[in-house]
Amino acid sequence: MKVAVLGAAGGIGQALALLLKLNLPAGSKLSLYDIAPVTPGVAADISHIPTAVEAVGFAGEDPTPALEGADLVLISAGVARKPGMDRADLFNVNAGIIRNLVGKVAETAPTACIGVITNPVNTTVAIAAEVLKGAGVYNKNKLFGVTTLDVIRSETFIAQAKGLNPADVKINVVGGHSGVTILPLLSQVEGVSFSDDEIASLTHRIQNAGTEVVEAKAGAGSATLSMAQAACRFGLSVVRGLQGEADVVECAYVEGAGEHTRFFAQPVVLGKNGVEAILPYGSLSEFEKNALDGMLETLSGDISKGEAFVNG
Ligand code: NAD
Ligand code: LMR
Repeated sequence: MKVAVLGAAGGIGQALALLLKLNLPAGSKLSLYDIAPVTPGVAADISHIPTAVEAVGFAGEDPTPALEGADLVLISAGVARKPGMDRADLFNVNAGIIRNLVGKVAETAPTACIGVITNPVNTTVAIAAEVLKGAGVYNKNKLFGVTTLDVIRSETFIAQAKGLNPADVKINVVGGHSGVTILPLLSQVEGVSFSDDEIASLTHRIQNAGTEVVEAKAGAGSATLSMAQAACRFGLSVVRGLQGEADVVECAYVEGAGEHTRFFAQPVVLGKNGVEAILPYGSLSEFEKNALDGMLETLSGDISKGEAFVNG
């Protein structure tokens, strides 16, 4: 397997590169790309870690050499939030970055799975899809918005609230990746029950966890280390699926049947061709039904903005 990280010199990218160096299966290749000149140095640095994963770094304007032969491309290139900003405020800079990078993926690694981390994910995934479509290589089973951070946060906060080991908590988080579009399905968590107050406060905390980190970092960026762990978990799951492992399931923001919106975060089975199946996310509580209804206008607006950016 060859995994490429675009944005590899950044806060997420460096930590993600480290985690992938430690955790990818033996024999894998890790290809790091960033416009920052330090990138070959990041690769040199992690290449001294004794695992059977080869790391190579590329810098400059052209990601092509990093993308050759990639099976999975994880993209965290772009700017991050500062206090007072919404993820949507990143659109002006990040939309163009995603358009250009995904255009290069379409040329050089058209059959690769692509995981988009760059915000605003609700919109950047739509941009990526339209770029791939324009290049004639769009496969909806191979394009993912990485929403795993919402899942790991939910696992953590539920475990804290209920005195559990986070490793034992399983939850689906559906919708999108910003504010009200993040919907943790707390009613379905096995073995725990929540009061109405707990549901309201946990949901609010999960939806605003990104802002919690942005404010705590006070102008120095957003979540990087937890995001790297989330992207590593997601990336390893994609790789396990590509290698033929059965029953690999993650929530991700993908193009499904369009029941609610064109792209929607939901549980998917990952396999040799990317998304093998989209799983039903089960029945919703009244609170969750209302939250789902309440997010759809925002989510479809975010998606249309991405489509319009590419198609005019
Ligand atoms: P960062 O500023 O630390 O790193 C971004 C990197 O992207 C930098 O190294 C920069 O040189 C590089 N870059 C910029 N333009 C590029 C281009 N055209 N090609 C290649 N590299 C380029 O930011 P970060 O904290 O790593 O965050 C990156 C992105 O991830 C942000 O948009 C942030 O909002 C997003 N994010 C998403 C999630 C999620 O849950 N999906 C979580 C956290 C952060
Ligand atoms: C997060 O959820 O932490 C990321 O989307 C970064 C952000 O801007 O909140």
